[in-house]
Amino acid sequence: MGLALIILAAGRGTRMKSDLPKVLHRIAGAPMLVHAMKAGETLAPDETVIVAGYGAEAVGAAARDRAPDARIVLQTEQRGTAHAVAQAAPALDGFDGDVIVLFGDTPFISAETLARMAEARLHHDIVVLGFEAADPARYGRLVMHGDNLERIVEFKDARATERAIGFCNSGVMAAPAALLFDLVAEVTDDNAGGEFYLTDIVAIARARGLSATAVACDEAETLGINSRTDLAAAEAAFQDRARTMAMDAGVTLVNPNSVHFSHDTVIGRDTVVEPNVVFGPGVTVAEGVQLRAFSHLEGCHVGSGAIVGPYARLRPGTDLGEEARIGNFVETKNATIGTGTKINHLSYIGDATLGSGANIGAGTITCNYDGVMKHHTEIGARAFIGSDTMLVAPVSVGDDAMTGSGSVITRDVPGGALALSRPAQENKPGMARKLLELLKKKKSQRDRGDG
Ligand code: UD1
Ligand code: MG
Repeated sequence: MGLALIILAAGRGTRMKSDLPKVLHRIAGAPMLVHAMKAGETLAPDETVIVAGYGAEAVGAAARDRAPDARIVLQTEQRGTAHAVAQAAPALDGFDGDVIVLFGDTPFISAETLARMAEARLHHDIVVLGFEAADPARYGRLVMHGDNLERIVEFKDARATERAIGFCNSGVMAAPAALLFDLVAEVTDDNAGGEFYLTDIVAIARARGLSATAVACDEAETLGINSRTDLAAAEAAFQDRARTMAMDAGVTLVNPNSVHFSHDTVIGRDTVVEPNVVFGPGVTVAEGVQLRAFSHLEGCHVGSGAIVGPYARLRPGTDLGEEARIGNFVETKNATIGTGTKINHLSYIGDATLGSGANIGAGTITCNYDGVMKHHTEIGARAFIGSDTMLVAPVSVGDDAMTGSGSVITRDVPGGALALSRPAQENKPGMARKLLELLKKKKSQRDRGDG
């Protein structure tokens, strides 16, 4: 049986006080919508439909970036969650599998929870995800009778006895597609909010003699984001989980609370991450790596046994070979760096390919940008680049070649050659002392006012 996801993401999120649609605010480097999509992906859906409204173009682009096949449907007026689901009906016309409805602003539903919902669907027509709320506040309340879910009452419409219920609606629901759209079509806006509530489908289904139940999950999973404070809390919750998962997988975090992960960071076992390391999106780190304090990594791969930092910056497109060394105040970008190659101090290596066993002296810069275009630098295996070498790209230095310190390299250096490109040194005997005397005399004349 097939499965479709419908993710509701049309709301503006007024309480975010933002021009950016709420679901595009980021947690661990990814829009919260993408987190919701990732949760749904674990069920391998055949169709993903995103209901967009406010900022639909940007929301659609973010969704397609994650899932190129995602269908984006428009809800021009936000008239409630049932109305939102109804907008997805044409996109799923003829689809005869199950639908799971997720909210774009509820990013942390786990794969395990969704799997339990799918399992419960084998025995019930509708399955709703609920949670025991520490503070039920304004959540919809789940009215249960044994295992059966009788109805969902929105807070605004709830009587005092119903408000006393602590078992709340997360918003996630599962039902067969045809049934879902059929029920949604019967929902009215005759309620305190004047909206078409998706939650009403439960009572409608029960009145038809169909069955409904609720599956419970931890409240942390149903965390909804409505304000910047919620966003910060969600980020903190994500980081906490990511740190624990890394340590459980055999990674040492010397000071876990100071390490910042991205939604997709992958780190191999026996890697040591020192304090204040930040991972941007797209980083994979192999086993036995040392990531030293205050390093910033983004869109890069670090090979096993490498040592990075302290204070290193690996930018997108960096592919660092095994046992390589990147030292303090070194920046790399779009650079493939061979096994065991060392770039230990104060360098910029961008748009470059470096062979294995090379040594890049302090202060070396690949001058990759001419003001209009970017150019490539090639450095061979075992090459020795003298300190303060400027490599003006496009340029190549062959295997086993050397460049003299302070050289500006504008032409290719053949393998095994030594390139020197700097004015020859000239010594003028006694000249320093003479010059110093002259300067001192000038200063005392000036101090006396007759200079
Ligand atoms: C909803 C539930 C409530 C539940 C709570 C959990 C309903 C009627 N109520 O209330 O039972 O306890 O979530 O957080 O479903 N959206 C649209 N179009 C709309 C309206 C909403 O796309 O017309 C989207 C929003 O962007 C959001 C989601 O649906 O992602 C939920 O909407 P929201 O207004 O936050 O519902 P709640 O009042 O929180
Ligand atoms: Mg909400």
